[in-house]
Amino acid sequence: KKRILSGVQPTGDLHIGNWLGAINNWVTLQEQYETFLCVVDLHAITASYNPKELSKNTFSTAALYVACGIDPNICSIFVQSQISAHSELCWILNCMTPINWMERMIQFKEKSIQQGNNVSIGLFDYPILMAADILLYDADFVPVGEDQKQHLELARDIAQQRINARFSKDKNILKIPQPIIMKNGSKIMSLIDGSKKMSKSDPNEGSRINLLDPPEIITKKIKRAKSDSSIGIEFNNPERPESKNLMMIYSILSGKEISQCENEFLETGWGTFKKLITEQLIESLEPIQKKYKLLMNDPYQLSKILNEGKEKAEDLANQTLKRVKSKLGFFEME
Ligand code: TYM
Repeated sequence: KKRILSGVQPTGDLHIGNWLGAINNWVTLQEQYETFLCVVDLHAITASYNPKELSKNTFSTAALYVACGIDPNICSIFVQSQISAHSELCWILNCMTPINWMERMIQFKEKSIQQGNNVSIGLFDYPILMAADILLYDADFVPVGEDQKQHLELARDIAQQRINARFSKDKNILKIPQPIIMKNGSKIMSLIDGSKKMSKSDPNEGSRINLLDPPEIITKKIKRAKSDSSIGIEFNNPERPESKNLMMIYSILSGKEISQCENEFLETGWGTFKKLITEQLIESLEPIQKKYKLLMNDPYQLSKILNEGKEKAEDLANQTLKRVKSKLGFFEME
């Protein structure tokens, strides 16, 4: 079986962008691939965070993976900071990666503007830690949202040009991973501005629907979501990004093709459409929220899942790290 690896940061509530862009695709892919999913808590400290919340958020993010339909019997779910090989490979890759490759990273530029005077080296290094996450598991594929494409290219370049090309004679040391970015859902936009992506770091809560939002909050957020003065909900009109975004969300959740939605909503007004998408969101999120509550009420079960995941992941990660260190010339005990 080919292998996939992916992860989400445990920074507060996950939103439907994380779900439709990433987690939902893991659910589809898990039967076909050997699946490793981590909660990337070391990435979560690259922005200011609350130490009282980190561990709680890590646990609840793992619970959400399962609540969204990840089957712990066939996937390994684990916490990044529990496996020290991630930090260790990251250091080695740091020393192999030219700074000017890093200076091109779009997400770093965007986030460092948001963080003003508080930008850490960790934020700059974030994509290299991500490369370590992926390369440690010899992942064939990495299912992520559109915004991670550049980071995936970096991971490929580091593996290929900076490790394999320089240090392997015959067999490659590191496997070159490929992104899986779905056509639909890989870029869900903000509810209040259809030109910006939905993001956890947007200070306006109304810009996103969180997976754990109760029905009344969903209703309120959709009611306030940006609309326009045209009649009919369209998909392909570049002047109506909000219309496109909501139709995309509705299409994925309802399982109806975009073309079918286009026909159906040709003459539908915003008020009617907003009611429909609100109902759809509530209906789609209800089973996730129910399962999440059950899991959180039984922390023992989830801990067991994370322990088993850790064991399997750690084994694999340590093997890769050992291989890398040996090829790069580190001292080895007899
Ligand atoms: P994070 O937590 O920011 O995002 C997690 C996943 O959600 C996707 N995503 C979106 N998809 C569609 N529309 C959106 N508006 C949207 N917002 C976020 C992201 O593309 C991502 O797939 N750096 C990663 C975490 C990471 C990782 C890894 C992923 C660390 N190591 C190794 C894969 C493999 C990130 O963006 O997390």
